[in-house]
Amino acid sequence: MPAKVVVVGSLNMDLVTRAQRLPRAGETLIGESFATVSGGKGANQAVASARLGAQVSMIGCVGEDAYGGQLRAALLAEQIDCQALTSVEGASGVALIVVDDNSQNAIVIVAGANGLLTPGVVAGFDAVLAAADVVICQLEVPMLTVGYVLKRGRALGKTVILNPAPATGPLPADWYSSIDYLIPNESEASALSGLPVDSLESAELAARRLIAAGAGKVIITLGALGSLFANGQSVEHFPAPKVKSVDTTAAGDTFVGGFAAALASGKSEAEAIRFGQVAAALSVTRAGAQPSIPFLSDVQAFNAS
Ligand code: RIB
Repeated sequence: MPAKVVVVGSLNMDLVTRAQRLPRAGETLIGESFATVSGGKGANQAVASARLGAQVSMIGCVGEDAYGGQLRAALLAEQIDCQALTSVEGASGVALIVVDDNSQNAIVIVAGANGLLTPGVVAGFDAVLAAADVVICQLEVPMLTVGYVLKRGRALGKTVILNPAPATGPLPADWYSSIDYLIPNESEASALSGLPVDSLESAELAARRLIAAGAGKVIITLGALGSLFANGQSVEHFPAPKVKSVDTTAAGDTFVGGFAAALASGKSEAEAIRFGQVAAALSVTRAGAQPSIPFLSDVQAFNAS
């Protein structure tokens, strides 16, 4: 039986333009291309976990608009269980994304239906949560809901992962004791810890501060610098595989989904981190959110090469 991952989080339709560079305030740029692509941090992490070997259920909300149908269909196409994906009146979540020639991006999200994923809606799918080995959350749904899921996941004895993205400041202090793995990127680690994070050394300081706040284990993803794992006892650096970057959108999501799938399947933390890193590295070689996420066979082929 494949391990079971439950993702509680967002689904967005990504409206993606490519341009030579990101626009400045007040500036109009001529873009190179436009595409609508299924995304949203929750849905991306669900797709990553499914493509990378786990059996996945998604708890979330989509609007009763055309995007809602497309977002649901994208998950169903990955054999993701959508019994807990609720259609609500109004618009689905959207993300306006610009990607430049250096593969950097800028993203504005509008929550839409994601904002209607209340604790009450999640509580209605408690049996789905109870069936999980690993529960994953991000911060694109209401904070009250995230807090509920972390605590309920802990009470049910699940492995609880929080990807605190996007982060605007410190997390509520009472969340930490419910989190097994906190997985921020540099800017999120900085927002959470109040420390600048732009190097391995500064990431280590931030990780120690987050552990002191009560996080069980912290993995800070650092792009080309790899990732830094810390628990109460030790700190370990995992260098990133070298690849040619085309678009970094959903690289963090691919890492989180891949890490969760590998961990749930019984791999060690170190193996799961390396597995997530290879998956994330492969995702940056391709454009878009969900279309860029690799399959288990891609990761295996990379590791064998
Ligand atoms: O992490 C990438 C995702 O962030 C995009 O798919 C977009 O929807 C935003 O949520």
